[in-house]
Amino acid sequence: MPEQVPAPAPPAQPNVVLIGPMASGKSSVGAALARRLSRPHVDSDQFFVARHGPIPEYFAAHGEEAFRNAEEHIVAELLASPRPSVISLGGGSVLSEATRARLCRHFVVMLDVTEEQALARIGDATTRPMLKADPAAVWKRIYAEREPLYRECADLIVEAAPPNIEARVDTIEKELPSR
Ligand code: S3P
Repeated sequence: MPEQVPAPAPPAQPNVVLIGPMASGKSSVGAALARRLSRPHVDSDQFFVARHGPIPEYFAAHGEEAFRNAEEHIVAELLASPRPSVISLGGGSVLSEATRARLCRHFVVMLDVTEEQALARIGDATTRPMLKADPAAVWKRIYAEREPLYRECADLIVEAAPPNIEARVDTIEKELPSR
């Protein structure tokens, strides 16, 4: 009897997934990249709000752990999309080990940002419950905690400069595996 050859692994789903800290431009770069590639753009935070309502209210009512569980489910659904998409993830998505494992099957781009750029963009932090106590100090602490996770998941790291959206889209487009 010939030895059974294991079936080849299913092809990787070619979603492009943007990860990175809060205010690194994941939503705006994701939307511009999707236009460039003629793909749908989905944003896990927007999806969360459509399903569960505003994030600050959800945090206040249910706490961070419930948010992370709900976020993990939403990210799994988005990654399983049958249509190749550009997917922007909330900054804390990579805290989930299950999400990090799922990301291995996609082309993952970390968008980096300097502390100065992020704080200038954040301005009013009321829409970001993680930052409500002291935005500058908390952003910095969270960035230090999560940076190794972003780097571990990323196939491509787009450095903080240039901050220009189209230039960042150019960088990503050049590095995309053949489509
Ligand atoms: C969070 C980031 C936010 C949002 C939520 C929590 C985080 O998304 O998911 O407020 O823990 O970093 P952005 O990265 O799009 O701001």
